[in-house]
Amino acid sequence: MHKPIPTQGRPAEDILEQLDTFKAEDPNYKDGKVWSLVYYLNEEHSDFLKHSYHKFSSENGLNPTAFKSLKQFETDIISATADLLNGTDEVCGVVTSGGTESCLMAVKTYRDMARANRGVKKPEMVIPETAHVAWFKASEYFGVKIRLVPLLDDLTPDLKKMEKLINRNTVMLLGSAPEYPHGTIDPIESMGAIAEKHKIPLHVDACVGGFILPFFEMNGVDLPLWDYRVAGVTSISADIHKYGYAAKGASTITYRNLDYLKHQMFVHQDWPGGVFASSALLGTRPGGAYSAAWATLQYFGQDGYQKLAYETHQAVEQLKQGVKQIPELAVMGHPQGPLFAYQSIDPEVNIYAVGDQMDKKGWQVNRNQHPAGLHAMVTAQHLKVVDQYLADLKDCVAIVKANPALAEQGGAATYGMMAHIPLRGLVKKKILDIYASMYQAGGGQVDLSQQADIEGQSASPTLLEKLLNWYVKRKSRKN
Ligand SMILES: Cc1ncc(COP(=O)(O)O)c(C=O)c1O
Repeated sequence: MHKPIPTQGRPAEDILEQLDTFKAEDPNYKDGKVWSLVYYLNEEHSDFLKHSYHKFSSENGLNPTAFKSLKQFETDIISATADLLNGTDEVCGVVTSGGTESCLMAVKTYRDMARANRGVKKPEMVIPETAHVAWFKASEYFGVKIRLVPLLDDLTPDLKKMEKLINRNTVMLLGSAPEYPHGTIDPIESMGAIAEKHKIPLHVDACVGGFILPFFEMNGVDLPLWDYRVAGVTSISADIHKYGYAAKGASTITYRNLDYLKHQMFVHQDWPGGVFASSALLGTRPGGAYSAAWATLQYFGQDGYQKLAYETHQAVEQLKQGVKQIPELAVMGHPQGPLFAYQSIDPEVNIYAVGDQMDKKGWQVNRNQHPAGLHAMVTAQHLKVVDQYLADLKDCVAIVKANPALAEQGGAATYGMMAHIPLRGLVKKKILDIYASMYQAGGGQVDLSQQADIEGQSASPTLLEKLLNWYVKRKSRKN
């Protein structure tokens, strides 16, 4: 049975009080135990975000000529972003609702541009295995086939293979700064050279790095070039709602010049509702996200962001050093940004079992796969928990080493089994069924916090447990 809205409205105070009770089961990010999904600093900043969002929460950015305020915010945000990314005065762009929208838009833009300029009918994009899932989503949504660049042993993309995958249907190349799984900044300068040689656009996914790597650099951290200083780079996505610490719903997609951006636009001139033009995916665009993003840039300013970047760098470097000192573990790839991942190099230590033990101690640790690892998206807030995290991690490794059976239990067992299930298409279908069931009428059986886990970077152990149960049943039926 569906649950209708109340027959009569309720007093605001009651509802606001009740809203707080919904938070009871949510992850407690305020104490620094959550390592992605949330970019929280303190209550003062949080209140500022709420107020700056609230001032424009009714305004709509759908039509840029209606609310001049919102257009001004957007112009200022894009201008500041272009400056931060070392773009020339020609760099232009759009504020979007998040990293995914920015990535989707780049794929649509380059598909349409290749169609218009080169008559490409079967578009393809060449992207590294470490590209964020948003790119796989874009491929499915926009019918642009992926040519996947395999990784070398050090988990960086094999550029020789990348070049070989380019053909006359290639509409774009992709690099990330940094890539999400291991925090490595892709070799953008070499990718730029390949892009220029083949006259193919190169997008840099800096959804994570866009609002922190420039401040690392200002603080004197030595980084490879990855932004508009690299000649072959034609567009960059950079999220303000990640390391820009804005309210959720704010990212940017910028292009080297308007010739690219034009292909992102949608216009329908014959609609009975009037002539319609839109710059990105959304129709109605939330004014609050714009005002809060604009206000946050003003609030921190360059010196504020440099301070946050300094603290984040301290935290991430201390964590990496701490992990390196645990003999059973090793840092994966070449992380230079604000996040990293680590794996087990001791056959007696199952890294997922270590993750299970960390979860038990109250940390919310994300899992990597292919190869197996644990992941940490580090913010300035985490500086205060570095020692505790490392002490707990050391403890958890010792517990797992002393209890080999832990590798056969909980999330470790499920992830272990996951890696060995053949027929990946069936796995995909089953996950789809389980996920869809959460959206069935009435909301399904699954609590909302679990959905957030899955929407995030990796499927949660709970979802995978369901998958495992299905697989075990299926196997026993066959035997
Ligand atoms: C490299 C990269 N690109 C794109 C995205 C997608 O961003 P969003 O979750 O804001 O849609 C993420 C998210 O973590 C990311 O790490």
